[in-house]
Amino acid sequence: MRVDIVGSRQKAVAIISLARGESRSEAESYAKQLIEQYRHVKSVLLRASPRTGEYRLREYEVIAGDPDTEVIHIEHGYKLALDPRRVYFSPREAHERQLVAEMVSSGEKVLVMFAGVGPMCIAIAKRRKVDVVVGVEISRVAWEYMVRNIRLNKLPNVRAVLGDVRFVCPFLKGVFDRVLMPLPLEGALYLDLAVDTLKERGVISLYGLSGYSGEELVNKVSEEMEELNVEWGVIGKRRVATYAPRIYKFRVDIEVKLK
Ligand SMILES: C[S@@+](CC[C@H](N)C(=O)[O-])C[C@H]1O[C@@H](n2cnc3c(N)ncnc32)[C@H](O)[C@@H]1O
Repeated sequence: MRVDIVGSRQKAVAIISLARGESRSEAESYAKQLIEQYRHVKSVLLRASPRTGEYRLREYEVIAGDPDTEVIHIEHGYKLALDPRRVYFSPREAHERQLVAEMVSSGEKVLVMFAGVGPMCIAIAKRRKVDVVVGVEISRVAWEYMVRNIRLNKLPNVRAVLGDVRFVCPFLKGVFDRVLMPLPLEGALYLDLAVDTLKERGVISLYGLSGYSGEELVNKVSEEMEELNVEWGVIGKRRVATYAPRIYKFRVDIEVKLK
């Protein structure tokens, strides 16, 4: 059984994922223990499906505690309001968010496509004196949380745009020093859009799935980038997490120079 905790010392939600062979009744008795032992854990959710659909959501069952599962999650000194049942969020990616924030230099203009409730935008703006961070998100629920999170963290140089990157990005041509693309299943298909939003030079950090070495993702990047009329090179690669047996989530950093 794997447990993720989302929230704060005031109110947290525990999310249980069953391993093969483990039963729902085992999860239920563990959920009861969690609620009894940890006063801040107010609800326990059981993961009931894989992530699906455009908004990358999964089904959860409330197996103990309060059915209201909205929390204020705290990581690395910033706050994120969210309901794990209504939006994508992974507390396990907190370290990755810090690594990405460290790559940003002061004064940069940064675009976060597929921004969710804004964790990357906020991690960056909290850590670096950026000119602006723009997050684009298609789910109204996630976007509303992003707007709230910008206020919660008092970060006026973060902007939240509600919309599909396919419609929003063409209005942002030539603006950014850096673009982040955290949509591992299909992000690579939007590389052309990302390139168009860059200034003459810039960096794109693309997330995608690959085998252990990351080679498949780098090959996919090559295929897509060769179609575009730019100079480019891979300047970084990181295995971020295990996605499925022998499949990993990678970040590939691509330096781009317009011809
Ligand atoms: C994997 S989640 C990542 C969210 C966030 N970056 C994070 O790390 O928590 C991908 C997000 O992209 C959004 N999304 C999917 N397709 C999109 C599109 N075409 N335009 C804008 N957002 C999109 C989904 O609603 C979802 O919130």
